[in-house]
Amino acid sequence: MNNITVVDHPLIQHKLTIMRDQETSTASFRRLLREIAHLLCYEVTRDLQLETKTIRTPMEEMQAPTLKGKKLVFASILRAGNGLLEGMLDLVPAARVAHIGLYRDHDTLQPVEYYFKAPSDIADRFIIVVDPMLATANSAIAAIDRLKGRGANNLRFLCLLAAPEGIAAFNKAHPDVPVFTAAVDSHLNDKGYIVPGLGDAGDRMYGTR
Ligand code: PRP
Ligand code: URA
Repeated sequence: MNNITVVDHPLIQHKLTIMRDQETSTASFRRLLREIAHLLCYEVTRDLQLETKTIRTPMEEMQAPTLKGKKLVFASILRAGNGLLEGMLDLVPAARVAHIGLYRDHDTLQPVEYYFKAPSDIADRFIIVVDPMLATANSAIAAIDRLKGRGANNLRFLCLLAAPEGIAAFNKAHPDVPVFTAAVDSHLNDKGYIVPGLGDAGDRMYGTR
């Protein structure tokens, strides 16, 4: 597996176990996803570039580090991406946001787009695409195709759970886009669900089913 970082911090693994448990409530599932997003955000932004600016503390003037360049873009694949997005925005409140509305057709497992809205200047920005689940990777590949079609060229993909099949497909389609995930599970079942997984992330987040 190329270009993949598994963020296996003990706090993430502990929280993920609670999320996987089918007895976990919708409210807890949402809260845990937001908490894990904080920890994943820390890792996926670890190598952001800094520059210095002059500030004055109550004691003296200093050259202090600050993030360099244009504001980040977080691109959320709806619906479930919004669970990660909220936590990312807690840490980087000034980030710009793109929304990509996709749902997976249950029979073909192909994504169907129903919404797309992104900042106009994404060609000049660092973009982190977020979706908790990388199953077949059809949705993630389509979302990134769409962003690249608008000129995006500096991207990362952040998820909670990935299937080996999805990672392979994603690497083949977008070898230039690093993947960050909290875990790589065993396999996909014949309906394209991640096993052992956590079920349908959107349904568990919003209590739909
Ligand atoms: C889920 C998930 C991903 C997609 C992953 O969304 O949030 O977007 O499936 O599957 P894939 O890798 O095989 O494409 P879903 O289509 O269920 O939509 P939802 O978030 O609106 O529930
Ligand atoms: N989408 C989900 O929400 N869960 C899976 O296991 C696969 C796709």
